[in-house]
Amino acid sequence: MTPPITRDTCAALDAADTLAPLRDQFDLPEGVIYLDGNSLGVLPRATAGRVQDVIRREWGQDLIQSWNKAGWIDYPQRVGDKIARLVGGQPGEVIAADSTSLNLYKVLSVALASVRASDPDGRRRVIVSERDNFPTDLYIAESLARQHGFTLRLVETDEIAAQLTGTAGDALAVLMLTHVNYRTGRQHAMADVTAAAHAAGALVVWDLAHSAGAVPVDLNGCDADFAIGCGYKYLNGGPGSPAFLWVHPRHLARLGGDGKDALWQPLAGWMGHAAPFEFTPGYRPAAGVTGFLCGTPSAIALAALECGVDTVLAAEALGGMAAVRAKSLALTDLFSALVAQRCAGHGLTLQTPTEPALRGSQVSLYRDEGAYAIVQALIARGVVGDYRAPGILRFGFTPLYLRFADVWDAVEHLVQVLQTGEWREERFHQRAAVT
Ligand SMILES: Cc1ncc(COP(=O)(O)O)c(C=O)c1O
Repeated sequence: MTPPITRDTCAALDAADTLAPLRDQFDLPEGVIYLDGNSLGVLPRATAGRVQDVIRREWGQDLIQSWNKAGWIDYPQRVGDKIARLVGGQPGEVIAADSTSLNLYKVLSVALASVRASDPDGRRRVIVSERDNFPTDLYIAESLARQHGFTLRLVETDEIAAQLTGTAGDALAVLMLTHVNYRTGRQHAMADVTAAAHAAGALVVWDLAHSAGAVPVDLNGCDADFAIGCGYKYLNGGPGSPAFLWVHPRHLARLGGDGKDALWQPLAGWMGHAAPFEFTPGYRPAAGVTGFLCGTPSAIALAALECGVDTVLAAEALGGMAAVRAKSLALTDLFSALVAQRCAGHGLTLQTPTEPALRGSQVSLYRDEGAYAIVQALIARGVVGDYRAPGILRFGFTPLYLRFADVWDAVEHLVQVLQTGEWREERFHQRAAVT
């Protein structure tokens, strides 16, 4: 029998943690154990000063000159190049702009347009995704399917493989998946799934919202087609931060031109124009990923996002994403083991796969009754996770700022909330707009 884990065991893990210095990069509130970096990353210490500088000096003093002098105009590409280092992209393949939803709209439109171009007979007209994919992805796909005469087919995770072979595979245009599921934390094998979809003749769009900055991703190595992701989760870019998109060079090379068959992203705006300051009436897409820009870059928000991305890049000197991943797995394993050890009999069931390759950086627990109220009772005690309907208590583990002792303390609070039944108090049952 393995000996029970103690708080001392956790403290020893912290003492040996080579990523521990990264915690100093963050402005963590006193007394809070933050297990929600998968929803909104913590404020980096550098952000307030940098944003203040953008506002006071770059905007306040230098005013419009800052588009050139401070490089505001290149911010989407500059921050994009930094994000590329975290997701296996090359310089010039990623831009930071707009929201994840909008970026999905852009890349999925291009994916559908390129299928149409290569399949004029209309044999491939199905987009496949998971029923449990994040709703915004499904809504965007539904909207595009309606506009362009495609069918959106939603399947369970274990039904995806069957969609990639036989007659289903022949009809498949695009497989659109989220790499790490927002609700369960389940991770897809990106390389294998991409290869199988390509073998079926389809394109693949990956949503990296719960992957970028949390798990190693190698988009070029996996030969993916398109990817999008959030700036405000593990990239610590701040609420509503610009998102990012990546496009494989083989697709970037096909974009552009102004003939009848030119392949454009759908939100043709002046910032994606080849020469925005020529102010010509006709659209000519900029080469490369810049062509995926639409309107004016959000300079203040991009400054904050850059600070957030830098906190993840700081791990490069300490073993990079491989080290981040190793600590993430250790934290999530510890949490799951402590819940099993200390919360048995309280009706919690683990939703996240235990096999490392099959999970991201979160642990989700399910409870029939009171899941929302338990999360609220934990938040009142300073342990911040979140709730996802129906019945899921969701805990994200950001290795950059979490300690092993935090995991112990969080589970100690969970044990107390369950044992005392304090979650039954009326105040923990009031539903807020954001859960
Ligand atoms: C998988 C996934 N995609 C997209 C989004 C959100 O997209 P947006 O930033 O456009 O609201 C989320 C938000 O949690 C998400 O989990």
